[in-house]
Amino acid sequence: MTVGRDPGGRLTYDEPDYGDEGGFRVAGRAEAGPVSPFGGARHPDPCSVVMFGVTGDLAHRKLIPALYDLGCHGVLPAGTTLVGYGRRELSDAQFRDLLQGAIDDHYGVEGVDGDVCRLVLEAPRYVQGEFDDPEGFARLAALLDELDRQGSRGNRMFYLATPPSQFPVLVEQLGAAGLARPGAGRDPDAACGWTRVVIEKPFGRDLETARELDRVIGQVFDERQVYRIDHYLAKETVQNLLVLRFANVIFEPVWNRRYVDYVEITAAETLGVEHRGPYYEEAGALRDMITPHLIQLFSLVAMEPPVAFDADAVRDEKMKVLRAVRPIPPESIADWAVRAQYVSGVVDGEEVPGYRDEERVAPDSYTETYAALKLVVDNWRWQGVPFYLRTGKRMARRVTEIAIHFKRPPVLLFKDAMASGGLQPNVLVLRVQPDEGFSLTIESKVPGHDVALQPVAMDYSYGTTLNELPFSAYETVLVDAMEGDMTLFTRGDQAEEAWRIVAPVLEAWAQRPQRDISIYEAGSWGPEAADALMARDGHSWRQPTKGDGT
Ligand SMILES: NC(=O)c1ccc[n+]([C@@H]2O[C@H](COP(=O)([O-])OP(=O)(O)OC[C@H]3O[C@@H](n4cnc5c(N)ncnc54)[C@H](OP(=O)(O)O)[C@@H]3O)[C@@H](O)[C@H]2O)c1
Repeated sequence: MTVGRDPGGRLTYDEPDYGDEGGFRVAGRAEAGPVSPFGGARHPDPCSVVMFGVTGDLAHRKLIPALYDLGCHGVLPAGTTLVGYGRRELSDAQFRDLLQGAIDDHYGVEGVDGDVCRLVLEAPRYVQGEFDDPEGFARLAALLDELDRQGSRGNRMFYLATPPSQFPVLVEQLGAAGLARPGAGRDPDAACGWTRVVIEKPFGRDLETARELDRVIGQVFDERQVYRIDHYLAKETVQNLLVLRFANVIFEPVWNRRYVDYVEITAAETLGVEHRGPYYEEAGALRDMITPHLIQLFSLVAMEPPVAFDADAVRDEKMKVLRAVRPIPPESIADWAVRAQYVSGVVDGEEVPGYRDEERVAPDSYTETYAALKLVVDNWRWQGVPFYLRTGKRMARRVTEIAIHFKRPPVLLFKDAMASGGLQPNVLVLRVQPDEGFSLTIESKVPGHDVALQPVAMDYSYGTTLNELPFSAYETVLVDAMEGDMTLFTRGDQAEEAWRIVAPVLEAWAQRPQRDISIYEAGSWGPEAADALMARDGHSWRQPTKGDGT
């Protein structure tokens, strides 16, 4: 393989044969690199990517492989350097080995191309220091100046991939070291560069802590520099939701209370807590998934059309609909929210232990591994349409989807012709993962002389229809941040509003940690209490099965 640079200075590969045996997940992609869902190939600026938490799980499993993949596609321009900052004593060479290990683990040693690897991680650098050590940050500042002279042009992206408890100290140290200002580099030619900070979830643990974190960040960075991650929003189908709604005329007229009966948003995992027991014990399903991800998905489904596809316009509309969510009444939390914990069961044919028997989980833990929430929106578009959000670990199937259930026709012409079960209302399902795509179920006539009806699915799958694999969410997140596109990142007020919505539930659950918590068997679709939550409104949760097209 020969590696070169194009006239714009980006790395090029003249033989990117990631063919069938190559073992690369990237096989079959366009060689030009990621393309924005709203048009145009991606051309981020060169920059120094400073990663805090680079020795952690997220960096190992997601961030480093994502950078590698971007490098494989020539998306990272010359002058882009990964800089790790951490407390471990590592030489640059040991740091490179650590990165190589993450890539090997992700792609399989067979599939990794050493040449690409060296280039993608072109001379990565490592700075040893504690997070509260001003001298460590001074060394970091000196290194960034050096990198500016070598081509990063004063552009710095600080990625906080650490436990949230470390966010404030890191932000403060960046401020104190003079690294938070745009154009902080001392090289006069690089003085025009940008400085951005990317912050992992969770953003606070409740409204108060989110506000406090915002206050700390606001003292050091301008909101325009802050990129709060919601990697769900970077998934292809989620972005396609905006295209589906606003680039077609047939959906928007029915996207309201006249035609929509109810909406379900599901994020179900088959995995347990793995080795993240301590984190999960603190977080629980509501904090881990509903606040940072599902409420943001909800806002994309429910928002009004933005006046433009820019970050401010989209985020303004999301904010408006979040503000329209009716406060959950503290006196009847159980009618609006359900929590549960899994006990042992069978997932994918294998016996698995209950949550309390997981590694580094308290044997008497009351942390919820399942949460369901009902939201209603007090605006003209959605009055009377409930939105049901649910998430759980050790569920029957790994699936994230948004299901829009439409109303029944006002008159039933085909009473005698319907298959058993009655007329099935139309359902539009957007599959976020796996098998990204969407399907619409409609009633159809069964071929033959008789008039018999049966629901059929019109199915669209990214993999088969466009013969393209979607890019990983973290690739999108990294490139968006490097390009300064904030559309898919959560603004501070949105993060706070999400906490405002769940605050009564968190409070009630904290007051009665041992009450109102149900159990569900691992490998099931969740607790009976969640079924009852829906049943009270005359609805039931979907139980999507693989390949059912709906
Ligand atoms: N892992 C995931 O799947 C995942 C998914 C979504 C979001 N996130 C978010 O990503 C962030 C990182 O998660 P993670 O799972 O990667 O955590 P992790 O495996 O525990 O890694 C934490 C990293 O932070 C460093 N660190 C922690 N405390 C430190 C301290 N006091 N001083 C210096 N370094 C310290 C660790 O360094 P050492 O190696 O020296 O200990 C390590 O590099 C969290 O905000 C998490 O919520 C993670």
